Amino acid sequence: DWTTVNVVEEQVALIRAQVGDKRAICGLSGGVDSAVAAALVQKAIGDKLTCVYVDHGLMRKGESEQVEKDFVAATGVQLKVVDAEERFLTALAGVSDPEQKRKIIGREFIRVFEQAASEIVAEAGASGESVEFLVQGTLYPDVVESGGGTGTANIKSHHNVGGLPEDLQFALVEPLRKLFKDEVRMVGAELGLPEEIVQRQPFPGPGLGIRIVGEVTKERLDLLREADAIARAELTAAGLDRSIWQCPVVLLADVRSVGVQGDGRTYGHPIVLRPVSSEDAMTADWSRVPYEVLAKISTRITNEVPDVNRVVLDVTSKPPGTIEWE
Ligand code: XMP
Repeated sequence: DWTTVNVVEEQVALIRAQVGDKRAICGLSGGVDSAVAAALVQKAIGDKLTCVYVDHGLMRKGESEQVEKDFVAATGVQLKVVDAEERFLTALAGVSDPEQKRKIIGREFIRVFEQAASEIVAEAGASGESVEFLVQGTLYPDVVESGGGTGTANIKSHHNVGGLPEDLQFALVEPLRKLFKDEVRMVGAELGLPEEIVQRQPFPGPGLGIRIVGEVTKERLDLLREADAIARAELTAAGLDRSIWQCPVVLLADVRSVGVQGDGRTYGHPIVLRPVSSEDAMTADWSRVPYEVLAKISTRITNEVPDVNRVVLDVTSKPPGTIEWE
């Protein structure tokens, strides 16, 4: 029967059987899923696992520092940090299509992992060995929404399912593939991960890259990072973190609207707030955030973020809207 103890024991045995005494890497995104997957694999194979944190330049404000600190402090795992901002932004230049963005991001992640893998082997003085396994925190809903790995997305190809390159050299280890998010959180708690990690709101692997409707550029990312940081700070201050599943903050970079700020006309971009409540991300409802909190966020974003002159609230459930805009 389903208990977290059973899930952990079963998965640890399966991972040992699959990986043996070979080496594995796990991409950490800062989210719950990759953290729990990493902790499970670490329990199974110890220091044959190295975690890799790819800073793709699409993270939110302060997030990279958090991954480097929190997760290592909690698990003592070996961590390799790769600064890949330029690489990702170059690969994404000129691209607006959401599925295309995910394919590019999925591919670039793998290229970075390949390079990191050979460095890890070299650093360990283990020439002749290679890293054969890649651990991913793929959940059941990711598989379903990506079309079950059939190559055709039902809804969207999550970057780590439908977005993987065809010449992938790693065998995948995906110990969470049958679990829903609430189950993953329970398994994480069972493994001793701290509350800050286990209760973290979901954040997609492609990061802010799929929260800019239009082309992804450094300037737009910086704008969105500021707006997102304000929204997150105010929602946290209002004590809403646990009642809101997640709140994407989206920059409509391809849309302009007229505004008036100071004494003059502006022609800027709208920011969308998309707070949702959900059990498993398969369906969701828009969160009834108190007006005062929304007002504060709106005032702060339009005052503090240049080029943004409008804040709009998304009041669509899922279905028909998805949680993310792309
Ligand atoms: P949607 O937008 O499909 O999102 O309603 C459902 C959940 O999945 C997250 N999401 C992703 N996570 N790679 C990820 O790792 C992706 O490509 C991706 N797309 C969406 C989204 O944030 C929500 O929690």
